[in-house]
Amino acid sequence: MVDERRLGAYERIYAQLEGLVAGKSPNLLAAMSTIAAVLHAKLKHHFWTGFYFVAAADELHVGPYQGSVACQILKGRGVCLRCAQTGAPVVVPDVEAFPGHIACDSRSKSEIVIPLKKNGRVVAVLDVDSDKLAQFDDDDSVPLQKIVDLLVPFLP
Ligand code: SME
Repeated sequence: MVDERRLGAYERIYAQLEGLVAGKSPNLLAAMSTIAAVLHAKLKHHFWTGFYFVAAADELHVGPYQGSVACQILKGRGVCLRCAQTGAPVVVPDVEAFPGHIACDSRSKSEIVIPLKKNGRVVAVLDVDSDKLAQFDDDDSVPLQKIVDLLVPFLP
């Protein structure tokens, strides 16, 4: 259960990002960079915040992000690929318990991944890692999806 403080923070962040991105960002990468920067700066439980693009059926390539240096290519397994392949958010309270999890930074302990879809097809995912266990649950998915969906008008 996500606490009220975090839900309030999501609402403020959405309003801020809507003002910064909708009708303002010049392109998709600018909008993604702005979303990653604001989420990462404002939400203290975020250890890594960023995007991966779907490059092939089993391969993702890193996009704009904030945090420690990331894996540039994710292939064949992992939490982000699960989200890209199912089209649904994935919540992982303990990354060690997720078979096939890819550890780009061993300090990451829990994770949430949200899809960005165009016409039902996943084109990218938002990945958020925390350095503490069990930092995300299904209550995070709805406000994060609303933020990710600010990107839909920028998709080609
Ligand atoms: N843990 C992810 C890889 C990306 S990093 O966490 C930044 C995964 O299993 O797909």
